[in-house]
Amino acid sequence: MAVRDIREYPEQVLRKGSQDVTDFGEDLQSLLRDMWETMVSNDGVGLAAPQIGVSLRVAVIGWRDRRIVLVNPVVIEQEGEEELEEGCLSAPGFYEKVTRPARVVVEAQDEHGEPIRLEEEGFLARVLMHEIDHLEGKLFLDRLSPLKRRYLKKKLQKRVEK
Ligand code: CO
Repeated sequence: MAVRDIREYPEQVLRKGSQDVTDFGEDLQSLLRDMWETMVSNDGVGLAAPQIGVSLRVAVIGWRDRRIVLVNPVVIEQEGEEELEEGCLSAPGFYEKVTRPARVVVEAQDEHGEPIRLEEEGFLARVLMHEIDHLEGKLFLDRLSPLKRRYLKKKLQKRVEK
């Protein structure tokens, strides 16, 4: 197992769409172990594969007593709206209010390729949508108002240049 480097905005790998997983063998299992360790050691509640430079449709979520492995997730239903402060390991130190659906239904596969279906509300619905966004090359910054987005991106860019 290994803690991997987290890729940060504006690295290009965060903007690429990810490929479906078709092989549930040892490579995937070792990727998942590394993702858990990387997420936990960074105090994250979720981590998507592109955040460690791997363009595969894989994410892990760990919050309270929930441990979720998402492979090839698809959003089936979304309902309502909720605004809450959100952050991302790929934009460390930045937190902004983001509007997300209040309830979502997601279908995916687990680490062995077995189908799973999640119906979640509130914070966990938010984390699911945040991680699935990563698999489409989207960051929470993209969901802010244009003004806030420009301001935050400038600040992030400045930090990278230092
Ligand atoms: Co994130």
